[in-house]
Amino acid sequence: MTININPGFPNLSIDVWNPDGANATEGFSEQYFAPGVSEEFAKELIAFNKEVGAQDDVLTDSVQRGLLGGLPERGRLLTNSEHLVIHFQKLIVNAVTGEPAALTPSGLVALPPVLRTIPLLPNASVVPDSERNAYVELEIFKIEPESEIISSFYMRRADGKPLDPWVPGQFLPIRVTIPSEPQPALRTYTLSTTPNPDYYRLSIRRGDENSLVSRFLHANGRPGLRIEAMTPRGKFMLTPQSERPAVFVSGGVGITPMIAMATHIVEEGRRTGKFRPVWFIHGTSNGRVHAFGNVKELAGQHPAMKVHIRYSQPGSTDRLGITHDSEGRITIDVLKELLPLNDYDFYLCGPPPFMQSLYDGLTGIGVRRERIHYESFGSGTALKPELHPEIPARISASDDGSVPIRFAKSGITAEWSRDKGSLLEFAEAVGLAPVFGCRSGICGTCATRITSGAVDYIEEPLAPRGEGQVLLCCSVPAAAALVPAWCSTYRGIDPSKRRRNGATASRSVYLPL
Ligand SMILES: Cc1cc2nc3c(=O)[nH]c(=O)nc-3n(C[C@H](O)[C@H](O)[C@H](O)COP(=O)(O)OP(=O)(O)OC[C@H]3O[C@@H](n4cnc5c(N)ncnc54)[C@H](O)[C@@H]3O)c2cc1C
Ligand code: FES
Repeated sequence: MTININPGFPNLSIDVWNPDGANATEGFSEQYFAPGVSEEFAKELIAFNKEVGAQDDVLTDSVQRGLLGGLPERGRLLTNSEHLVIHFQKLIVNAVTGEPAALTPSGLVALPPVLRTIPLLPNASVVPDSERNAYVELEIFKIEPESEIISSFYMRRADGKPLDPWVPGQFLPIRVTIPSEPQPALRTYTLSTTPNPDYYRLSIRRGDENSLVSRFLHANGRPGLRIEAMTPRGKFMLTPQSERPAVFVSGGVGITPMIAMATHIVEEGRRTGKFRPVWFIHGTSNGRVHAFGNVKELAGQHPAMKVHIRYSQPGSTDRLGITHDSEGRITIDVLKELLPLNDYDFYLCGPPPFMQSLYDGLTGIGVRRERIHYESFGSGTALKPELHPEIPARISASDDGSVPIRFAKSGITAEWSRDKGSLLEFAEAVGLAPVFGCRSGICGTCATRITSGAVDYIEEPLAPRGEGQVLLCCSVPAAAALVPAWCSTYRGIDPSKRRRNGATASRSVYLPL
């Protein structure tokens, strides 16, 4: 809060600043004048303060953009004039550390590590591996129904510490201890809110009667229930530098990352005054299962956010034009009809056939692959390898060979080469549908026995795997993985850190799928 007394007739103005999320501040001013001060003076002073405020907004937004670049650790102060801020920082440092605050050579207050700025564009990779892969206990403190089958679970750290940062679109690996089960269950759920240090929100669809974790949480979730989680992660996130309109296309519970990303765009727009255009296109069966129906209110805070809701099986209480905008499934023709000709970033999340048909449709009309981002929640999908543009793009074209892979049960033998991605992607490309969960080596769902051959891991997986088992989602045949031209650049992994797992070092790989 600042209190100002301006020159002239007796007056007092108070500015109040409230944090509004990780990167934004909201404020308001009140101006007071003594009895008898003329209307003209008051108006002039208010206009002057407004003008200065608008100039400050431009400057602070510009500083904020600079800090968002991630290079400076913190903003600078004018050491000759901003004595009060420096004094305030010293008080804080002193209160936190119990020591008098030291000054840096440039006259700034030296911050102890505990007070160092959290990067404004949070990046999970800044968290050291030891913390990133450790489970911490979370406690549910609120549950809100979003539809008949989707509920949001709000949780915070049980030890009261602030949460690790995440980027809108990322997911949280969780571990749930279910009394009837011999082992804790590992699952991954998208964080459906924008980053904040206080709480996570997971919006979980209740699965069918055999669905373990979602049924357990829906039936037993209550304030006080504890689960565990690692730090948030995942590659499905907004391309931060892009100013192209974002098109979010989701089906069913695939709405969760879209809500986080769209909310982030709205918050950023309110903070910077620059709103990235958004199309929010969502398909679901009907109003009973439609979650986050209030997305139109979010759109009301954005000058260029269009929302289109499509129901495939509207119910008797659903009203076209009120509860939903059109009827049927979301197809490429629907997108072509809705979207004016433009250069977009597409974000897809929904059931596998939905994503596959939209992906094929979009590439079919000439949308470049790198403009299509996607997240897959399901298991046993047959996503095409080109849905993973980052893998082929990083692999050197100087491949000198391929590796024969034999899938024993199905009798399929096919040649793996570098552009085929992980063994999971390769299996999917040849028409198999291995089960998977996280596609990133966390949950262990894709663990498969390796009959012979050997694999290398693209990233050292976290999930345990039994003797003679490999995790398909994050492994490639070892013989090919050893080619140094791309090992060193492949997802930035240092080749010396790769681990080998398998029966023999033969060039072929045999899997019992
Ligand atoms: C990156 C990512 C993000 C995700 N985000 C979300 C999200 O935001 N919200 C959300 O709701 N979900 C999300 N998911 C999906 C989530 O991780 C779980 O896969 C989902 O909740 C199902 O888990 P479950 O334990 O309830 O079901 P599971 O026990 O894993 O069962 C899944 C299916 O397998 C069937 N099944 C299980 N056991 C058997 C058996 N013995 N025989 C036959 N069939 C069986 C079940 O009937 C069910 O249909 C996400 C997944 C990923 C990979
Ligand atoms: S799918 Fe989760 S470890 Fe492979």
